[in-house]
Amino acid sequence: MTITDPMTASADAANQEQTVSRVVYTADDGTVTEIDGRPGDSIMETAVRNGVPGIIGECGGSLSCATCHVFVAAETLALVGTPGDLEDEMLDGTAVEREENSRLSCQIKLQSGCRYHVTTPSEQI
Ligand code: FES
Repeated sequence: MTITDPMTASADAANQEQTVSRVVYTADDGTVTEIDGRPGDSIMETAVRNGVPGIIGECGGSLSCATCHVFVAAETLALVGTPGDLEDEMLDGTAVEREENSRLSCQIKLQSGCRYHVTTPSEQI
């Protein structure tokens, strides 16, 4: 039988809270949705799990659909870096034409305790 020390459980909960990341999704129409995401999950997974409109993620994150296209806000660009070669190729096939700040959100994994801001395009298919 395991006995949970309430003080330890409380400290564990506090530690988990400190590591949660925040993702701000701005839709093409200006609607803003803010979601707490788990470190290690992608921006696409976080959106799909929470029903955020504007991101489909049809292939589940295997870099074969480009339905998770987002525009990364200026304040988030340094945090997410640049796309890899395959992602860069896939960005040429997005429904809405790519821009300098385009990324596939399945390739952006949340780091602990960070804040991300992305804008979703008007269409993904
Ligand atoms: S979910 Fe398919 S490429 Fe990102």
